[in-house]
Amino acid sequence: MSDTYLLDQYIEDLRRITQETSDEDEIMSQVGPLAQRLAIENSWLQDKHYETDSEQGFGAYMLHEEPDHALAVFVVNWMPGRGAPPHDHGTWAVIAGVEGVERNVRYKRVDDGSREGYADLEVKNSINAEVGELICMKTGGIHSVHNETDQLTLSLHTYGSHVNFNKRSQYDLMTKKKKDFIVRVT
Ligand SMILES: [Fe+2]
Repeated sequence: MSDTYLLDQYIEDLRRITQETSDEDEIMSQVGPLAQRLAIENSWLQDKHYETDSEQGFGAYMLHEEPDHALAVFVVNWMPGRGAPPHDHGTWAVIAGVEGVERNVRYKRVDDGSREGYADLEVKNSINAEVGELICMKTGGIHSVHNETDQLTLSLHTYGSHVNFNKRSQYDLMTKKKKDFIVRVT
């Protein structure tokens, strides 16, 4: 018998953790190590998860969500040279590297949020996230992801709720425009 950590166990753990606490720091500190383990012990990974979406630049596949869209788990592949613009998630996010190295840039808002559709961002920090490495963000955290390598990269994304059903935004660094961000998820 193998003691590989399975997706079903991860879902059970997510349910237990989020029933025990609604504190996002606590959720992320408990979910993080489990997401890392699931990213490394990736028996859930299928060939179809490598199928790219050239229009979007990344292919997103749903592994799980609850009937009310809570506890959404995706695997996302990123095409070489492609990425996602700065965005938030409208919920907490725990991301763990599965394959390759992804450039992850975190931003902070420096405007007061009073202008509709406007946001001024500054880079807070950036890292090259490797396999098993974690990126954790509370609600409102803003980041961008870019694959600067010449090979497809994959990461495991867990959200408090499915991002397409949350109020969340993408940000244009040049025009400082803020608008809705809906992604195509298979
Ligand atoms: Fe994200």
